[in-house]
Amino acid sequence: MKKKKRVKKKVIFIFILIIVVCIGGIFFINKPSESTKSVKEEKTTEKNIKKDKRLEELDFINEKIDYFKNDYIDRYLAYRKANPNLSIEDVIIKVNIGLDYPYYENVHESEYLNTSYMIVNKYNSLSRDYVPEDLKKIDSSFSNGEKYMVSYAADAFEKMASDALSQGYNILAMSTYRSYDYQNSLYNNYVSKDGQSEADTYSARAGYSEHQTGLAADVYNKEKSYTDFEDTREFGWMQENAHKYGFILRYPKDKVDETGYMYEPWHYRYVGEEIASYIWKNNITYEEYFVKFIEGKK
Ligand code: DAL
Ligand code: ZN
Repeated sequence: MKKKKRVKKKVIFIFILIIVVCIGGIFFINKPSESTKSVKEEKTTEKNIKKDKRLEELDFINEKIDYFKNDYIDRYLAYRKANPNLSIEDVIIKVNIGLDYPYYENVHESEYLNTSYMIVNKYNSLSRDYVPEDLKKIDSSFSNGEKYMVSYAADAFEKMASDALSQGYNILAMSTYRSYDYQNSLYNNYVSKDGQSEADTYSARAGYSEHQTGLAADVYNKEKSYTDFEDTREFGWMQENAHKYGFILRYPKDKVDETGYMYEPWHYRYVGEEIASYIWKNNITYEEYFVKFIEGKK
């Protein structure tokens, strides 16, 4: 009996020993050698240093610029690489506008609906059913036919056109609020006439037109077509005075890439006097103003 017990104990002991040896072996095999470990660590540190170096400049800017977006760091780096002549500030502005994507890609629903500072462009769209609140018909002395704008923009337009008239200048609204469907038919006509890529340089796709906000007005002087507005005395008057009434020239000659549209001397947008004066003085687009001072202050 005693012998049997001893044999049993021995078997259990050997069994436990085998298990311990196996676990030890597995642990030993999985454990990285000191040399593998240090190579791995070195690689990670090297990567971090590289990344930190690339970000050094951006980090510096990050502290100074409140519209810097941490989520966009990779986009900033890629855009900077593709455009080495741009200042870092310009890189940040352009990426925040969305210009590192082709037009009509990476589009967001326009925010701040029914405010004078909302933005609608090739990266910020309106839904088919967006109709601005409080549209008002512009006084017929300052428009050709029934033209509507958001009431405060219509008031500002009437005041501007009335002051201009008292100084001998005729400024009339010829296209103001346009519904999604109307813009759609306009755009499609242009596409049939000129093809899509050309139409895209001067006409907005439905849902992307500032005219749908009720804050934009195309103007003319009664005598010449609106497309010749640049050649009129009225254009000179608008250049000097529109900002005082809260209007900006929305698609300037030297900002085609930023706005996504060819020069439109006839298209004005209401943004309010303060913003209009800032844009006028600093010769920037509404895109730039928006990413710096509206979105950047969120
Ligand atoms: N012509 C301007 C860009 C529009 O279609 O809204
Ligand atoms: Zn227009």
